[in-house]
Amino acid sequence: MCGIVGYTGKREAYPVILKGLKRLEYRGYDSAGVALLNNGLKVYKKKGKVAELEDSVVGKDLHAFTGIGHTRWATHGEPSDRNAHPHSSASGNIAMIHNGIIENYTSIKQELINKGYTFTSDTDTEVLLNFIEDIKKNNESSLEEALRIALKRVVGAYCILLIDKDDPETIIAARKGSPLVIGIGKGEHFLASDATPIVEYTKEVVYVNDYEIAIVKPDQLILKNLGNEKQTPFIQKLDIELAKIEKGGYDHFMLKEIYEQPETIHDCLRGRLNSAAGTITMGGVESNLQALTDANRIVMVACGTSWHAGLIAEYIFEELCRIPVEVEYASEFRYRNPVINKGDVIIAISQSGETADTLVALENAKEKGAFIFGVVNAVGSSIARMSNAGAYTHAGPEIGVASTKAFTGQLAVLTMMALKIGYAKGTIDERRYMQLLRELDEIPEKVKQLLQNTSNIEKIANKYKDAEDFLYLGRGYNFPVALEGALKLKEISYIHAEGYPAAEMKHGPIALVDENLPVVFVATKDSYYEKIVSNVQEIKARRGKVIAVASEGDKVIPGMADDVMYVPDADEILAPLLSVIPLQLLSYYVGIAKGIDVDKPRNLAKSVTVE
Ligand code: F6R
Repeated sequence: MCGIVGYTGKREAYPVILKGLKRLEYRGYDSAGVALLNNGLKVYKKKGKVAELEDSVVGKDLHAFTGIGHTRWATHGEPSDRNAHPHSSASGNIAMIHNGIIENYTSIKQELINKGYTFTSDTDTEVLLNFIEDIKKNNESSLEEALRIALKRVVGAYCILLIDKDDPETIIAARKGSPLVIGIGKGEHFLASDATPIVEYTKEVVYVNDYEIAIVKPDQLILKNLGNEKQTPFIQKLDIELAKIEKGGYDHFMLKEIYEQPETIHDCLRGRLNSAAGTITMGGVESNLQALTDANRIVMVACGTSWHAGLIAEYIFEELCRIPVEVEYASEFRYRNPVINKGDVIIAISQSGETADTLVALENAKEKGAFIFGVVNAVGSSIARMSNAGAYTHAGPEIGVASTKAFTGQLAVLTMMALKIGYAKGTIDERRYMQLLRELDEIPEKVKQLLQNTSNIEKIANKYKDAEDFLYLGRGYNFPVALEGALKLKEISYIHAEGYPAAEMKHGPIALVDENLPVVFVATKDSYYEKIVSNVQEIKARRGKVIAVASEGDKVIPGMADDVMYVPDADEILAPLLSVIPLQLLSYYVGIAKGIDVDKPRNLAKSVTVE
């Protein structure tokens, strides 16, 4: 959470930083600010989105060749101008931006108060900044040395950038737990939370590791560890296209990303799935096939939408591989004392690859000897790098805060993994394996077909947009899809929604049903179909409004439902790749009908890098 950008070089820094902040706004949009070095330090900051900062600095002196900028997701201190970053040190000489949480900031703050310091914000960032400046002053040390000493006392997560009025071409950065990428240009450097602000200037980047400090000047990049030893920067080539991080004619990133799914699923399967030859090529699986086929247990660890992908994968892995699977919320898994035995495999699922709870849960499990397989979208992210092996989802940058194309990418990867492992183990026979490979190959085309006619989904959204609650029900593979549909609606429309296994409804939630409650059934043709038909009848008997996701050609469910969203027929294992899409669109159109900024819904941030 929070997006940070820095620039030092020959260009005007402000436009580079502002554009970068707009790209990173998905990480938080409670306030934004910049600090620029030009004959002194100028700091401009504003509560609200980056556009509000932009309006507020019209006519101000923005000339500078070095600067830093921040877009905030509030942790300590409410969103306000005062709490916005960058913060300035007591002397006014140093400015700092920070992404993360300093957990022991209260004790450090008290020490500083005892020394006579006062604070203008409620943030942990201002405390850390003054702590650094205090060390610099008392030890007569450089800013870099002071930072190193300060970080040894800090508990928590951080990515920080510092600039000093007395060193006008230098940015000093440090990271632990929150991401930092440095772009290497000719006589210039770019710093950012992810590569999206960098890609249009250079494709050469260095991902800074935890406990590293970077000293960045236009012509020089020095990396050191906290022990002051120089580290060799590992330069990597970026594989992102600019077009992929722009809206490309769509009103919102979320809509663009929903419509990209035929292509993103295809990209995920490309080079891996060969249905004619009956092969799945996945380097990470192949080189660890023994560990995966022999696994006593698989534990899926994730949060939010990625956790829902894990739930679907649980059904798929147990069916195809006959390996017991548990699906864990990373935030719970990391704090209890989970039993991890030799032979357990942990599959980490994450779009961003930076989710703090998932990352720490994995680090703990790795320490206990677990084998970690990462299913990650963001290339080069922390989770991708700390995993023992992995497979990227190749969905491209996902910018809309609500996850859509990353989810279907996760399902595609997890399905291929289960097929490959199951086939190698002999728990899936040749005929079924070949049939599923063929059907998986057809999914991108089916998604395309589905997305060609969605006007009725917009009508349904307008019809139910004023409902106060929604219930989402599904069974089997479609039960987690119901959970995902409910999550999407909550995020994007602010309507309360709950997902349940359809049969579980009778054990309580059915009491909610009346003529005002829309109930969304994910009821495609599968082995649970007859059962879910009975559940629809139970809702209709209580005058609930039924919106159904049904298979094309189904005659029964449409005869009972008030509204229907059709999806092409598919094997039940693959059905979630299709049935989730109308639910993504339903929440999108409800959000739009309610006038919500669907790409930046309130209180959310895309990359949850605080616990
Ligand atoms: C929902 C959503 C979140 C994320 C969750 C995990 O639309 O985007 O629930 O799925 O924060 O994020 P990643 O997958 O980046 O670890």
